[in-house]
Amino acid sequence: MATTEPQIDFTSPAFKKNPYEILANMRRQNPVAKISLPGDRTGWLVTRYEDVETLIKDPRLSIDIRDVYPPEVIQAVFPFGEVSEGLLHSMVFSNDPKTHSRLRNLVSHSFTPRYIETWQGRIQNIIDEIINQLPEHGEIDLIREVAFPLPMIVISEMLGIPVEDREKFRDWSNSYVDSLGNPAAAQAIIGDMAEFQQYLFELIEAKRANPSDDLLSKLVSTDVEGDRLSRQELIGMTLLLVMAGNETTTTLISSAMLTLFQNPEQKELLKQNPALLKPAIEEFIRYQGPLLNLNDRWAVEDFEYKGQQIKKGESVYLCVASANRDEERFQNGNSFNVQRSDLQRHVGFGLGMHYCLGAPLARLEGVIGLHTILQRLPEIRLAVPEEELTWRPSIITFALEKLPVRF
Ligand code: HEM
Repeated sequence: MATTEPQIDFTSPAFKKNPYEILANMRRQNPVAKISLPGDRTGWLVTRYEDVETLIKDPRLSIDIRDVYPPEVIQAVFPFGEVSEGLLHSMVFSNDPKTHSRLRNLVSHSFTPRYIETWQGRIQNIIDEIINQLPEHGEIDLIREVAFPLPMIVISEMLGIPVEDREKFRDWSNSYVDSLGNPAAAQAIIGDMAEFQQYLFELIEAKRANPSDDLLSKLVSTDVEGDRLSRQELIGMTLLLVMAGNETTTTLISSAMLTLFQNPEQKELLKQNPALLKPAIEEFIRYQGPLLNLNDRWAVEDFEYKGQQIKKGESVYLCVASANRDEERFQNGNSFNVQRSDLQRHVGFGLGMHYCLGAPLARLEGVIGLHTILQRLPEIRLAVPEEELTWRPSIITFALEKLPVRF
């Protein structure tokens, strides 16, 4: 097995433009590969489906950085006061099953498929209003005008974030996500994050003073068997739900549309047979999902895996974008086919204890959003040559910056 250090830069435009050939080579030649990361760090990239599936359950890896580094080191990587602390203490970064299920149980009833179905009519109204504001024909950035507002309005309404604050919230949370794993980018947004923190303090206080029917008001006043969420936990939960739910769902819709522009016969099929959209969501996520990698998993001890020596403190990236194209698992993994028979097996929503809490919501928004775009903008097509599209510079997400379309 190769032990060289490939210079993979996940954040580079060249890699994001066409990662699949590089990832296929890695699956073949170097499936557990040492890689260079921003900030002179090294880590591991795991590209085969079977290894992603195995390592996600491996207790020698933790999703909680606090299991491997002391507070002063963590503070340097996550320097945003209670914004960072809140997120680090949120369910997605809890490795301890008891802490994790305590936090997840507080909100899980709001994300069950059955409860999410009650949002169907409202989601349809929101996307209809968004499309009503567009001209009959024209050119827009589909992300800015359609794919971003839909999930942002939905989660803001669920949580009770005021309408006028939503754009600010989007900018803060996008810059936070882009800075993850990139210390230089993190330093550049310290001031913005201090404002974000202040905003969250005030929002929580406003909900305490004037509770209404939204999820955040409920969380602020939740008292399950004497268990109350601290301010830090409330900040963590709010941020997690907004960050985990927005950009990913925006990207689901924009990447799905790009995939349809690249596969016009599949676009026609979905236009003619809207019932296929529900299963198609799984294929969109498998073929070009919103995430490149799962969140960092940290080695809590030195160990050997498939001949590689993984050292305590190193981060391991479980590459879902690669696993979801693994030909060992998916026949013709590099072709997009909404009628394939192995749709449900993708790992784009993760696996195990941290399996995406918001999957039912993401699926419903995806189906309604894409259906409405295809029916109401039937002439929709790319407005620029595909080579001009650019991707956001994140290690974890795989998201277009803009999607200019004509209709
Ligand atoms: C297509 C859209 C989405 C994708 C692809 C996606 C993907 C994922 C993945 C892969 C994980 C596991 C992360 C890991 O193990 O490192 C995850 C966790 C999570 N997602 Fe999503 N997600 C999406 C939409 C949403 C939405 C709409 C929400 C809620 C509003 C949401 C809330 C969460 C939460 C709270 C977690 C943490 C769960 C836990 O730790 O138990 N996600 N998501």
